[in-house]
Amino acid sequence: MAADGSAPFIPLSVPEIGGNEWAYIKECLDTNWVSTAGPFVERFELEFARKLGASHAVACQSGTAALHVALLVAGIGPGDEVLVPALTFVAPANAIRYADATPVLVDVEPKHAGIDLNLVEAFLREDCARAGARLVNRTSGRRVAGVMPVHLLGHPVDMDRLMALAEEFGLIVIEDATESLGATYKERHAGTIGHLGCFSFNGNKIMTTGGGGMIVTARADWAKRAKHLTNQAKVDPIEYDHDEIGYNYRLTNIQAAMGVAQLERLDAYVEAKRAIAARYADAFTDVPGLRSIPQANWARTNWWLYTVLIESAEFGIDSRALLRRLDAQRIQARPLWRPLHMGPPHRGERVLGGDVAKRFNAEGLSLPSSVGLAPEQQARVIEAVRSAARRD
Ligand SMILES: Cc1ncc(COP(=O)(O)O)c(C=O)c1O
Repeated sequence: MAADGSAPFIPLSVPEIGGNEWAYIKECLDTNWVSTAGPFVERFELEFARKLGASHAVACQSGTAALHVALLVAGIGPGDEVLVPALTFVAPANAIRYADATPVLVDVEPKHAGIDLNLVEAFLREDCARAGARLVNRTSGRRVAGVMPVHLLGHPVDMDRLMALAEEFGLIVIEDATESLGATYKERHAGTIGHLGCFSFNGNKIMTTGGGGMIVTARADWAKRAKHLTNQAKVDPIEYDHDEIGYNYRLTNIQAAMGVAQLERLDAYVEAKRAIAARYADAFTDVPGLRSIPQANWARTNWWLYTVLIESAEFGIDSRALLRRLDAQRIQARPLWRPLHMGPPHRGERVLGGDVAKRFNAEGLSLPSSVGLAPEQQARVIEAVRSAARRD
């Protein structure tokens, strides 16, 4: 198919707005509750917790802020190490640095692209030693305090295995569930299995508040401290007394109003993403050199971004050439992230394992996956990919 630079643009992932967003935000404007106080914030927290079966939910300004605060409430800080996958958007490793802790990057496993738990286990058993109640990295001498698994592209990590390791070695597990809202691990919502779970409502996520985040936890004391830290650690609203250094990480009432409306439609959004994924999978079964990331038997992914892996020798061109071809046809695609140790912010961090993350980065391309992607739009994407494949 010839490149058609005048065809309508098909974005990678854009918000779907068609429920009560207008009504609820109008309510904020009509009542003047437009800032960080107002009834929608608490309502959003309660409804979010209920939806996921979590005990407590605390809203905040972004998924990155959620990860930062989760680390702080778990007592992770200077001198501590946290295991995090090498293949991810950069935010979790940045959050570990904000907490003055050190990320230890772990390669991902080749099947589902999640943090490689064989490498995690080998590190804990062979490279660490117990010093009283602490687990210490024998090479660095630092405490190994936690693991931050990322449910990449919506696909949950094997949480039973990870939680068993965490229990054995006394580690805190903070799930980065920012991409996996609506996904489940053995019937439990991703993000509710670890000690803390973090979500993002950035504009490209399955539901959005424009920008925003949420922390969930079973511990009431941690939820209370998370709320405190996100509100500048204020203890007296009249005198403006603060008992520690806090952050202005609050979500506004307007954003929360949007969140409540979006949450009402989350099930339909997840269903739409799953239908999009099924159509892509069906359309690409016979394309040589094109694979997707399969779903593990423990997982029901939300298929946040449907991603194909391109083996150039068989497909005919590599993932970046395919990206350019799609771009010329006004179809937005995106490579999987460059492994964290290959970029300036986290270059030089210790990496456990090999080069699987690099391969995913080289081969992976996420295709348009908006909840509102119309069948005709998807047909255009499918045709563009199929026609790029080698036809011997
Ligand atoms: C894996 C991962 N972690 C964290 C974040 C951070 O979320 P936010 O953009 O809301 O800060 C994102 C997405 O943006 C993400 O994909």
